[in-house]
Amino acid sequence: MTQRPEVPEEAIATRWIDDNVAPLNGVRESVRAALAEIVAGAPERAAGVVERADDLPSDLRADIVEGLRGLQLPSAAAEFLGDQMRSLGVALNPDVIECYRAAFYLSRDWESYVANPLFSRFNSNKGYQAFDKWIHYLDVYYRTLQPYVGRPIRVLEIGVYHGGGLDQLRYLLGDAATLVGADINEEARAVCADRFEVEIGDQRDEGFLGDLVRKHGPFDVIIDDGGHTMSQQITAIEYLFGTLNDGGVYIVEDTHTSYWESFADQDVTFMQWVKERLDDLNGYHWVQGTELPAWTRMVTGIHAYDSIVVLDKGRHLPPFCEVVGTGSSLVYDRVSEQLLLNYRGAAAAAEVRLAQGLLEADDVRAAAHSGIEDARASQAEAETRREAAETQREAAEQQLSDVLNSKTWRLARRMQGLKPRRSR
Ligand SMILES: C[S@@+](CC[C@H](N)C(=O)[O-])C[C@H]1O[C@@H](n2cnc3c(N)ncnc32)[C@H](O)[C@@H]1O
Repeated sequence: MTQRPEVPEEAIATRWIDDNVAPLNGVRESVRAALAEIVAGAPERAAGVVERADDLPSDLRADIVEGLRGLQLPSAAAEFLGDQMRSLGVALNPDVIECYRAAFYLSRDWESYVANPLFSRFNSNKGYQAFDKWIHYLDVYYRTLQPYVGRPIRVLEIGVYHGGGLDQLRYLLGDAATLVGADINEEARAVCADRFEVEIGDQRDEGFLGDLVRKHGPFDVIIDDGGHTMSQQITAIEYLFGTLNDGGVYIVEDTHTSYWESFADQDVTFMQWVKERLDDLNGYHWVQGTELPAWTRMVTGIHAYDSIVVLDKGRHLPPFCEVVGTGSSLVYDRVSEQLLLNYRGAAAAAEVRLAQGLLEADDVRAAAHSGIEDARASQAEAETRREAAETQREAAEQQLSDVLNSKTWRLARRMQGLKPRRSR
């Protein structure tokens, strides 16, 4: 294992405090004190705190006091206080967030997370490494990634920071998964050096993305938790989505930046881009003859949650239906399907027999062929023998003729009173 290199801890810690802790200091004293009373189970005392508050507009104060006096449940009181603070105009100001956080934990909503191992791990981590997640993301991650647990998949996380997200993925997915990070900041590689491979580059750079896929992909899961600007989110997904393995998912975190001015580095927001993909997903139902975008064929699902979007990658064919559960399936269709199965079985068996017959016919033909060859060879041998015998016979006749025509023979015949025999 590589030694973890020196990291400028101060820089990291300062930035984390700036991002995560400092805003909480902005919670109004009155809201903090009112929440403390609500958590203690006394919404009416919270009303008294707000009544005396000098850091809230007076008309709002009156509305809050009246509302809190009518609410018994601490969770409902905290939610009400959050709604009132929201009316001041800033959606995610710390006054509002703290009220809703209290509302969540004062109700039994948190119980729905108990069985989620990501939540229990997250909550049990009191001193390992700074890790900041919106709680409901843990639910989205768990339900999205469960099918991949224990499998040898390849995962890319864009935006690594201290590696808390990769740690969480390792915990959930297990050791069979290959986890790779990508970050624009060299520091991320240094912090993760003993745990994960991290490539350094900009998620808007297609050359960098191509290298990532060639070196570590193709991926089954890609998570974009990088810079969160519109061009960063859109460039990365437009390049990477098509490279995902079928059956894979592409997750984009913090998509609420689509509604924040400071992340609008181009005209089209990421959520507008997602809405176009929703239309593409239904492309097979557009007017016939309309040319379909590639997205129609490769996006099989889009799951949009608050601030996090999941797109499923796969082979998306036009939909088709089957009819089941009708009376006909119980009577006629079932019988005919059984017959069909029988016929199919008989046809398959006949095909096997035919194939065997053809093989046997081949054997017989081969045997006959070799018989013919043998007979031809025997015939040729007999012919050779016959020719040799003919030659011998001719030689013998010649010898006889020579003898009969010889003077000696004729003389001998005459001496015997015999007429010489004419030779042939
Ligand atoms: C929210 S943090 C990531 C947190 C991490 N995923 C986790 O769960 O702990 C965002 C990271 O994105 C990186 N980043 C910002 N802009 C980027 C870009 N254009 N390309 C790649 N990474 C970028 C930052 O350096 C930072 O480390």
